[in-house]
Amino acid sequence: MTASITRAAVVGGGYMGGGIAATIAGAGIPCTLIDVDLTTARRRTDELIGETANWAADGLLDQAEVDAVATHLSAGTDIEESVAAVDLVIEAVPEVLALKHTTLARISAAATPECLIASNTSTLPIGTLAESVEHPERFLGCHWMNPSRLIPGVEIIPWTGTAEEAVHVASEFHTQVGKRPTTIGDVPGFIANRLQHALFAEALKLVDEGVATPETVDEVSRNSFGYRLAAFGPFEVADMAGLDVYQSCLEVETEHYGDRFASTPLLEDQVSAGSLGLKNGRGITPLASHDPEVVGAIRNRYFRGLTSLLESVEGLEGLRHPRHDR
Ligand SMILES: NC(=O)c1ccc[n+]([C@@H]2O[C@H](COP(=O)([O-])OP(=O)(O)OC[C@H]3O[C@@H](n4cnc5c(N)ncnc54)[C@H](O)[C@@H]3O)[C@@H](O)[C@H]2O)c1
Repeated sequence: MTASITRAAVVGGGYMGGGIAATIAGAGIPCTLIDVDLTTARRRTDELIGETANWAADGLLDQAEVDAVATHLSAGTDIEESVAAVDLVIEAVPEVLALKHTTLARISAAATPECLIASNTSTLPIGTLAESVEHPERFLGCHWMNPSRLIPGVEIIPWTGTAEEAVHVASEFHTQVGKRPTTIGDVPGFIANRLQHALFAEALKLVDEGVATPETVDEVSRNSFGYRLAAFGPFEVADMAGLDVYQSCLEVETEHYGDRFASTPLLEDQVSAGSLGLKNGRGITPLASHDPEVVGAIRNRYFRGLTSLLESVEGLEGLRHPRHDR
């Protein structure tokens, strides 16, 4: 297994794969982008180099990154030629199981046995995809979020046969290219999509039941619990609100909406043991052990900063009104 990544390739240069390849090249690591043919790959690398320059002109990136992308991003002729001498291949072709299998089989047959292979699949279990990979102990999921150049989080998903070394090298690599990798379990949808799709499924129900319009659901989400989520995860939020409070809320919602709102032993055990969160210093997350005044002061600075940021993003409010000239 390779100990570090000095050359990479991305297969599938669309929305995700293009951003992933540009991020890698922007961090100074040579990266080849492969698509259905060389013409498409060249078109995409040209677009990505242009996009990088535009972003720098808008102040989103510095000139060093523009230069790094122009120097280190290249277009590949095909999978077989392009992956033969790299340490990492990230597969980002469309979310079609048969296509993923064919593509991963081609990649793993052409790469060296030491080469790390990752899939950027959004939902497909990594253990299923591993069936078509030669030397599957070097295979894992690396799930970037959209827009891939700007969202820091990447889910690193070993299947049961992934070597520990592969997880280590993948995590180090993602940190090196400026991401925040988190290693998680191999379940359909992983963590991020399982959570955000649960929210979306509930949002659809609210609209289908006639409770709200999509616009209302979005407005409430943005202006209330969504406001918290960049700084505090669901468990930290529950610790701040009070675990007993959350238990009571889930009881009412379970009565009305059924078992999809049912509490679990994790919450029940905490509350019966008297761990109520920040208010009594014991909860699910480390945050509960801190001084409530200190937590409150930090939380307040975050909310004030977020409010100012949102007000300063030019054009954001305009997106809530339809454009009629398209
Ligand atoms: N779009 C998102 O928000 C998002 C977020 C996270 C993960 N993903 C996942 O990333 C993967 C790619 O999604 P996307 O949105 O970038 O799709 P996309 O359609 O924008 O890009 C797919 C690219 O793969 C190319 N391609 C198709 N067949 C190919 C082949 N045989 N060989 C080489 N290239 C081929 C296409 O030409 C296209 O450029 C999917 O698994 C998707 O689930 C998507």
